[in-house]
Amino acid sequence: FSRYSFPDDFVFGTSSSAYQVHALNFAASGAYEGETNKHGRGPAIWDTFTEEHTERISDHSNGNVAVDFYHRYKEDVQRMKDMGMDAFRFSISWSRVLPHGRLTAGVNEEGIKFYNDLIDDLLENGLQPYVTLFHWDTPQALEDKYGGFLSPNIVNDFRDFVDLCFKNFGDRVKKWITLNEPWMFSVQGYDLGTMAPGRISVVVNDPHRSLNTGATEVYKVTHHLLLAHAAAVKLYKEKYQSSQGGQIGITLVSHWFEPYSNSEADQTATKRSLDFMLVFIPFPYADRFMDPLTNGDYPRNMHDFVGGRLPKFTPEESESLKGSYDFIGINYYTTYYAQNTDADYQSVGFMSDARSNWTGERNGIPIGPQAGVKWLYIYPEGICKLLNYTKDQYRSPTIYITENGVDDVNNNASSLKEALSDPVREKSYKDHLKNVLRSINEHGVDVKGFFAWSLMDNFEWGSGYAVRFGLFYVDYSNNLKRYPKNSVKWFKQFLRRDSHSPVP
Ligand code: GCO
Repeated sequence: FSRYSFPDDFVFGTSSSAYQVHALNFAASGAYEGETNKHGRGPAIWDTFTEEHTERISDHSNGNVAVDFYHRYKEDVQRMKDMGMDAFRFSISWSRVLPHGRLTAGVNEEGIKFYNDLIDDLLENGLQPYVTLFHWDTPQALEDKYGGFLSPNIVNDFRDFVDLCFKNFGDRVKKWITLNEPWMFSVQGYDLGTMAPGRISVVVNDPHRSLNTGATEVYKVTHHLLLAHAAAVKLYKEKYQSSQGGQIGITLVSHWFEPYSNSEADQTATKRSLDFMLVFIPFPYADRFMDPLTNGDYPRNMHDFVGGRLPKFTPEESESLKGSYDFIGINYYTTYYAQNTDADYQSVGFMSDARSNWTGERNGIPIGPQAGVKWLYIYPEGICKLLNYTKDQYRSPTIYITENGVDDVNNNASSLKEALSDPVREKSYKDHLKNVLRSINEHGVDVKGFFAWSLMDNFEWGSGYAVRFGLFYVDYSNNLKRYPKNSVKWFKQFLRRDSHSPVP
């Protein structure tokens, strides 16, 4: 089993996002090392969130320093090269290039230069840039001005931002990803409040509540995310694609779901869970009744269960969404059992709308071994099933696995030796890659690449630095020094091109 088991043009890489790795993110109060050290970056909602809601970050940390990728990217690029990687996925921080969010309010040339330098360095080292345009860091200025993604105004500002990116970087960037995980951003940011901007949908746990009293912001935000995505794709296709020759897509996250029991209700809940997560929005319903990315509307399940709270697309908007991708990125981490529930089984809006309970265990038996974090059950067959499902539901799109990985089983090792020992990660990558291969060979899924999350430990959102997803260990108490975990050796062997020696 080696990279040669995969099609010739299959791409291997690692994945990251700006707020999770950059240094010199901007504390909203300007407190972090003063104005001069921001390199012109304006605040984003994650700066504000980590400052105003320290209690929602398990170790009360923030991304102000993160792993200082901003200054150390050259050595990190060498790490990728040395592993034999072909590509690197990173995101562009909107407020680093447009500190005030709006194009008319000024471009930060230093930010543009940083990305130009990074892209050049990647290419010089044989690594292709895969660039995410939005990985959850809305400029605070736009949040303040009109509520960020709660407002349709975001669409024009996003279009201007991506225009700037295509114009400056598109001569070298050939793979663009408009959004990272719209589901996660809307549900965690506008329903559960566990991520920026931290809004919690107030749903009264009232057994008599009608369909129209539940969560609303989560759907509004999704709606505007989809419109922003469509606007970006339209712009790229009309203005840049023929001259620059790149491709543009979107990254969605989904768990795989297995029915909790054989009951019809649980089987329906399983399907519904996929509709509400993978499809939530942008994927099609099984009967191909309308869906935003292929048919220009939400899946039927969404209409049925969310009712009047689901925003409507105008005919032009529907049109702009149809076929609005050259490829789809899928982030897969885990599988859950789906169980049918009554509408009001809990007070949280989105899950209540989906009428589903998601659980990793049945009668006390986990669906797969657990990684370090509670939510992650390792279930490699899930990636194969999800890929097959996506192909079948979706007219065989080209797919990249844009994220997959596990955190350390012990995120709190007492010695460096222990911290670098990660047999679970090594096995997890091997098993997931074998399942990706199965989907290609046995089901004809057009998977073109696999990106490991992540090159190195980093700021894991609400889990701060306490959860470590890296192939490289970062010593936060000693100048952010990076050390390869043992799985790096495995990956390196797997990726070797010189002497073709398969890994066990
Ligand atoms: C993303 C992810 C990453 C996380 C990773 C591990 O969705 O793109 O949230 O940013 O760090 O999924 O949880």
